[in-house]
Amino acid sequence: MGWREEVERALEEIEKFVASHEEDLQRFKEQFLSKEGLVGKLSRLIREVAREEKAELGKALNTIKTKAQEKYEFLKQKLEEEKNRFKCPEDTTLPSSDTLKFSTHPITKTLGEIVNIFKKLNFTVAEGPEIEDDWHNFTALNIPEDHPARDMQDTFYIQINPPILLRTHTSPVQIRTMETHKPPIRIIAPGRVYRNETVSARSHVQFHQVEGLVVGSNVSIIDLKATLDWFAKQFFGPGTKTRYRVSFFPFTEPSFEMDVSCTLCDGKGCNVCKYTGWLEILGCGMVDPAVLENCNIDPDQYSGFAFGIGIERLAMLKYGIKDIRLFFWNDFVFLSMDI
Ligand code: DAH
Repeated sequence: MGWREEVERALEEIEKFVASHEEDLQRFKEQFLSKEGLVGKLSRLIREVAREEKAELGKALNTIKTKAQEKYEFLKQKLEEEKNRFKCPEDTTLPSSDTLKFSTHPITKTLGEIVNIFKKLNFTVAEGPEIEDDWHNFTALNIPEDHPARDMQDTFYIQINPPILLRTHTSPVQIRTMETHKPPIRIIAPGRVYRNETVSARSHVQFHQVEGLVVGSNVSIIDLKATLDWFAKQFFGPGTKTRYRVSFFPFTEPSFEMDVSCTLCDGKGCNVCKYTGWLEILGCGMVDPAVLENCNIDPDQYSGFAFGIGIERLAMLKYGIKDIRLFFWNDFVFLSMDI
């Protein structure tokens, strides 16, 4: 092969050359740019070719040198870029850059606040399953089959016979705790609950509750009131007033709903409290003796009180959130809100 052909072929090869590793780059350098490679070979050839060819060969040599050098720089830069693209930070435990701002989910935050308040009163946290049986979710809580109270909560059934369901409230954790623990009992049970309801700005198929249960000797309605009044002041602020309205829950007797003075208008009346000055925040009552009996706790020896708080509702009231669906939408603006 004459040197002209060799030059032509080399120019083509330089053009096509791809480097995926450091070694390819090295090979390129050796093949085209080193003394042992093409450039070296052509330089030596200049001395040997006929005088008329020398200028032409010199020019070709320069072209090869320039093209090879340019290509070399290009390949080197590409490899460097690739390397950096997949480079791990040396210390993977370092905090990430602050271009993305994260904040605690309002439900997690509210739940944490509630739990911390009750922890100060020596409540411990209990947990129960989200998939429940009929006994724990209904029957043991004094809600027998065919009882109209079952209609109060639209249930998602997983299995009909025997009934397996998604718990409709956190009250089954009361039963599970009393079945396995002797009084004195003082627990709160936060968790997710489910109801087959139409999703709207005010209700959802999933939400969160915190259940509370205190059982001991001589636990009275005074204890209930003192505990929940204190909670309301801790959560909403020291000026918060409470009131109790008689209500009905199958597992408590007597039963109440507790209202707090409206946090927005200070009890003067606004559209959040529907101009009543009061906001309903929880259900509560003295544990029905039949429920104690269902858990083999002697109602002549022990008494107790219980309460159930809706977390979404509390978070909405405290942080002025107007639509319950926002909690589950994963809306980035909502989630980055620093409340
Ligand atoms: N389980 C009730 C519900 O989901 C809330 C409730 C009311 C819980 C009164 C209680 C209670 O422990 O005493 O509507």
